Amino acid sequence: MSADWVEREHKYYQSTFKRNLVMTRGEGVRVWDADGKVYLDLVAGIATNVLGHAHPAVVKAICDQAQQLVHVSNLYINQRQVELAELLYNVSGGMRAFFSNSGAEANEGAIKLARKYGRVNRGGAYGIISMERSFHGRTLATTAATGQKKYQDTWLPLPDGFRQVPFNDLDALKAATTEKTAGVLIEAVQGEGGIYPASSAYMQGLRSWCDEQNLILICDEVQAGMGRTGKFFSWEHMGIRPDIVTMAKGLAGGVPIGAMLAAPRADIFEPGDHGTTFGGNPIACAAGVATMRTIHDKDLLNHVTQMGAYLDSKLRDLATKYPIMSGMRGIGLMRAFDLAEPRAQDVMDRALERGLLITNAGPSTIRFVPPLIITNAEIDEAVEKLDASLAAM
Ligand SMILES: Cc1ncc(COP(=O)(O)O)c(C=O)c1O
Repeated sequence: MSADWVEREHKYYQSTFKRNLVMTRGEGVRVWDADGKVYLDLVAGIATNVLGHAHPAVVKAICDQAQQLVHVSNLYINQRQVELAELLYNVSGGMRAFFSNSGAEANEGAIKLARKYGRVNRGGAYGIISMERSFHGRTLATTAATGQKKYQDTWLPLPDGFRQVPFNDLDALKAATTEKTAGVLIEAVQGEGGIYPASSAYMQGLRSWCDEQNLILICDEVQAGMGRTGKFFSWEHMGIRPDIVTMAKGLAGGVPIGAMLAAPRADIFEPGDHGTTFGGNPIACAAGVATMRTIHDKDLLNHVTQMGAYLDSKLRDLATKYPIMSGMRGIGLMRAFDLAEPRAQDVMDRALERGLLITNAGPSTIRFVPPLIITNAEIDEAVEKLDASLAAM
């Protein structure tokens, strides 16, 4: 029974999350709670379960690897790590990987690498410029890089060397650049901030500015990567190539992992500069290899483009019925709309009652980051439940 678990959770687990739903099992785009109720899951671990729940390729990879080698230190080479690095090298056009366990850690690695670049190649520069409304993680440095005051205020003073500028504003970025700046950190499609894509013109201008000024351009693909936008990396839509890319969330189909990829220009870590105990663990990398191969073999990037357009058209239809909905936006299966009032929690609660999991991005924005395998029929079902939820408000 859920109620017992809720009580035990409140007793034994710190109050970091406000939650009352106990999940026990998942399959495809569906999850079941401890009382046996089934939900259509358009949250997908917040853009993490890219192949849905219990995908056979991921399950098999985990089980096979667990029987061979669960963990071995990064003092030694593990084959799955090399295989995953090779796949990422190929999709990124020649970037070498470093694996961690989370998105925040991947960004920490990227910040360190940019700082090393600044120290060696830009007269000791160490500063990172990031964007307002961005989200880069919960460690102290990534909190300092995150452009939302609500995540920062309690933890002041934050590490030095970070500042934020308005998104999609090249003049502001240029004005903020000083001789101390080492690099720029950006989500080409902002996720937690509310699903806002950067314009191609801005990203191209940013790329040129970084080249001119000898700055490192870091793209945080933790949420928008792994095919979520219909291309493997979201920056591919904008015709640029970053120097460093960070990934996590969907990379191993739900198994904890992070990756920091570096193009040759930025690939300057030497032995001893950086490290990790668990990062690139054989199980995580086996799951990552299976996830990446499935995305490729099942042509999921095309599928995402089609399903994204379908979800968008269904949501636009719904918006004609509910004037409270506006600001339909997104790319691929990364979509959002705004509510005229701060009632996102209300919408989510009503959807939950009807067996639909959706998430928000702030108090007035509903966000959709479903598994990339979602079908037309599942989108229809989700939109019907959303329709009923909005009607009940
Ligand atoms: C764009 C982006 N970067 C970084 C992170 C942090 O990732 P993690 O929670 O794995 O540390 C997130 C998490 O939501 C994210 O969306």
